[in-house]
Amino acid sequence: MDLYPDSGAEVAAGMAPQDTTAMATETTLLNPRFYTTDFDEMDRIDVTPVRKEWDKLIAQMKSDPNKGHFKKTDAWDAVDWDGMDPPLKREFIDFLVSSCTAEFSGCVLYKEMKRRGSNADICELFSYMARDEARHAGFINDALREAGVAVNLGFLTKAKKYTYFRPKFIYYATYLSEKIGYARYITIFRHLEAHPEQRFHPIFKWFREWCNDEFSHGEAFALLMKTDPKLTESFVNKLWIKFFLTAVYSTMWVRDHARPEFHKALGVEISWYDQEVFRKTSTIARQIFPIELDIDHPRWIPNLERMNRAFIAMDAAKRQGGVAGKLKTWAAGAKAAFTFARLYTIPAKRHALPANVRLEPTY
Ligand SMILES: [Fe+2]
Ligand SMILES: [Fe+2]
Repeated sequence: MDLYPDSGAEVAAGMAPQDTTAMATETTLLNPRFYTTDFDEMDRIDVTPVRKEWDKLIAQMKSDPNKGHFKKTDAWDAVDWDGMDPPLKREFIDFLVSSCTAEFSGCVLYKEMKRRGSNADICELFSYMARDEARHAGFINDALREAGVAVNLGFLTKAKKYTYFRPKFIYYATYLSEKIGYARYITIFRHLEAHPEQRFHPIFKWFREWCNDEFSHGEAFALLMKTDPKLTESFVNKLWIKFFLTAVYSTMWVRDHARPEFHKALGVEISWYDQEVFRKTSTIARQIFPIELDIDHPRWIPNLERMNRAFIAMDAAKRQGGVAGKLKTWAAGAKAAFTFARLYTIPAKRHALPANVRLEPTY
């Protein structure tokens, strides 16, 4: 398994713009990815079974509640980038670059769906979602520009490798990433609301309205999945859902634990934060997933920690290079794969799906 990013941590501080783009074009299992899919199959989705809820959601997206939100206002305090502790600066830039890439990757996928489709419902939905993600990515890029770095988004579209996913995998992965995005942003926002002295950058003030966009995007994917009950109820698909949940949660754990200075500055204990985000995401996902990972199981955290150690070992082995480095990389990769299996085999919690899929953001 080729899982660990050469996290860009060494190149971030004081780097040239092309380096930031290089960080964003790196493709590893941990970095945000760019996706492509069978657009024709997605174009054939018929939203009739969820028409009433669909129309309501689309009307809300069309009204564009966050139209004026992604602009710097007086609330945007000056940032002392030069005075920032270099390790914090590195990790924060790394955080912004990977967030920007993730937002932009959503934008590219949604825009492509809108461009290729002919189904009016689907095209309308994807045009609103592409609009939102473009704003999100642009806003982060504005923040990066103040630090003298920026991700060249046009270049990224061409240079980044695309991963093909069947539409159903796009639903599982994208639904999860939207809901987890909501949970991440709102958890940081609420934490900083209670501890404003830890807000070391103004961008966090924008997170509440921002995460409501992500919440609505997740709602749209929940409705899309609801049009075809097989997607969430067949035996094989339940296994896939569990796979995506395990992969997305464990990836987040490893990625966050690679940024100790960033979380220290926010006053957030990483393991607490991750568990909190998993808990919110899992509670929300009961709207559409009939299974849920047992994050309180005694094997859960020890194996996430083991996974993290495997990635750190893999990273060190790659740096070492040579034959010995290669062997160590394989050994650490095997350990990560084995640990993944241990996480995957923790029995899931099951529950019946609610009749009405729609939720409102309540955190
Ligand atoms: Fe977004
Ligand atoms: Fe989104």
